[in-house]
Amino acid sequence: MQSDVSLTQALFWGLVACISLTGRVSAFPGRLLNPRADGPVDSIVRSWSYGIPSQVQNGTAHARFTIPTAGSKLETTALLTLDSPQVRSINSSVFDWWYFDAVSETDPRESLALIFFTSTAAAFPWLPPNETSVLVAYIWASFANGTVFADYLHATIARVAGGEGANPPSSGNWSSTGCSWTAPKDDLSQYEVIVSSKEMQVEGRLSLSSELGPHLPCSIQPGTTTLEIAPHMGWVALKPDAVGQVDITVRGSSLSFQGPAYHDKNWSDRPFEESVQSWYWGHGHIGPYSVVWFSYLAVDDPSHMAYVSGYVARNGAVLVSSCNSTLLSVRPTGAFGTSARYPPRAGDVPDGFHLEFDLGDTGWLRANVSGTVVAGDGKYYVRWAGKMAGEVVQSGGKPGYDAATQSQLHGSAVFEQFVVAA
Ligand SMILES: *[C@@H]1O[C@H](CO)[C@@H](O)[C@H](O)[C@H]1NC(C)=O
Ligand SMILES: *[C@@H]1O[C@H](CO)[C@@H](O)[C@H](O)[C@H]1NC(C)=O
Ligand SMILES: *[C@@H]1O[C@H](CO)[C@@H](O)[C@H](O)[C@H]1NC(C)=O
Ligand SMILES: *[C@@H]1O[C@H](CO)[C@@H](O)[C@H](O)[C@H]1NC(C)=O
Ligand SMILES: *[C@@H]1O[C@H](CO)[C@@H](O)[C@H](O)[C@H]1NC(C)=O
Ligand SMILES: *[C@@H]1O[C@H](CO)[C@@H](O)[C@H](O)[C@H]1NC(C)=O
Ligand SMILES: *[C@@H]1O[C@H](CO)[C@@H](O)[C@H](O)[C@H]1NC(C)=O
Ligand SMILES: *[C@@H]1O[C@H](CO)[C@@H](O)[C@H](O)[C@H]1NC(C)=O
Repeated sequence: MQSDVSLTQALFWGLVACISLTGRVSAFPGRLLNPRADGPVDSIVRSWSYGIPSQVQNGTAHARFTIPTAGSKLETTALLTLDSPQVRSINSSVFDWWYFDAVSETDPRESLALIFFTSTAAAFPWLPPNETSVLVAYIWASFANGTVFADYLHATIARVAGGEGANPPSSGNWSSTGCSWTAPKDDLSQYEVIVSSKEMQVEGRLSLSSELGPHLPCSIQPGTTTLEIAPHMGWVALKPDAVGQVDITVRGSSLSFQGPAYHDKNWSDRPFEESVQSWYWGHGHIGPYSVVWFSYLAVDDPSHMAYVSGYVARNGAVLVSSCNSTLLSVRPTGAFGTSARYPPRAGDVPDGFHLEFDLGDTGWLRANVSGTVVAGDGKYYVRWAGKMAGEVVQSGGKPGYDAATQSQLHGSAVFEQFVVAA
């Protein structure tokens, strides 16, 4: 390990074990950075292997906020690039991370979430501060009796590797924490997230399996696709919905279930609190539908314009994937005090949310989510795992529509809010 760390320190993590390049950029890794500080890291390398040091870096960081798209398609290299680090050089004001979760389809009180962070607590204030490490592996597990387990470890180095021709096409290892992921196929249809930690007393895995492609904030655009859900906020749902299988032992208690699973990445080139006023996010599976929602109010925006991104697939076929603000509405629900106030203020903790998705010709998907709190600080940040109940209602008299099969949809969801505004 010693030699790993010093090697990485010496070379700075911008080092890319770069095999070959596609596209328009210099072949020299040191020059991959875009000179514009807020611009994209717009080079696409075929494969990469990063050793991200634990020390916070000095100087400016560079974030990728766009990806080239050949026509309206995401090619394999571009797809795999979505799972690579999106911020180069983690200084104290930026963050970049990989998120995975699953919730039981039969008892949504059972859930598991793992996040691989590269961030300081200054950039994302809900992280445990650590002077010597920006590398955090965080795990949350909730049991059917309501017990929630949460723990984390700081890593000494993180290895993130992948790309076309790499074996595996995507992997991450927060060395010294026992937490890692790997995706063995280059369509990213499968992931294994592994935890093997004596220190946390956690041993086991989360497997995700799904043929669904990624959900990008505004879907795929011809030529260049944005990865920005809102100014300075990168977000890609690599697995908008997957079949999750959890088999894990947490401090001697085993947690085993199957249910909707999800993987995304988010990142920014400035601190979370400089961007976010409030943030609603979630994903779920009801009936034949896979659903992802995101609705976000930016800080210091008196118009309260919601940045949204919504995704609905039915039996694996994408019905909508868009950031059109007319597509989606997410509103807090709850009877107590200001719990359902919108726009929300810090301390407003709803019971759940009401969601409406415009599915165009298919009609509207309307659903309520509610559940038990599985993470957060109870004031600024809450994550729930719970039930989703909904219906798809027709907007016009479209023929061949079988209303009866589209009502009374049920399923499980994981969802959260951040409310930073006082
Ligand atoms: C960043 O700068 C501080 C203060 O000059 C220095 O102590 C630290 O070693 C530097 N960190 C890195 C990673 O170069
Ligand atoms: C980190 O990088 C960002 C993005 O380039 C820059 O705006 C910020 O000033 C840098 N932070 C520090 C502490 O150098
Ligand atoms: C900070 O991170 C280092 C790993 O770089 C770890 O050894 C140490 O225990 C962490 N400190 C705290 C207080 O968590
Ligand atoms: C992660 O890295 C550690 C330290 O290098 C190593 O012992 C471990 O086997 C790796 N884990 C996986 C799943 O490759
Ligand atoms: C709830 O279940 C977990 C896991 O089986 C167990 O560790 C914990 O002690 C239980 N808590 C209560 C209050 O029964
Ligand atoms: C990033 O996304 C994950 C899941 O979507 C969420 O849990 C996390 O809070 C988000 N945070 C930020 C700062 O983007
Ligand atoms: C958003 O959707 C509405 C309703 O479907 C449509 O009229 C509008 O043109 C769309 N806006 C954009 C920017 O695509
Ligand atoms: C959502 O909850 C509201 C309030 O309880 C209820 O009126 C509505 O019918 C529910 N909608 C669905 C789709 O279940």
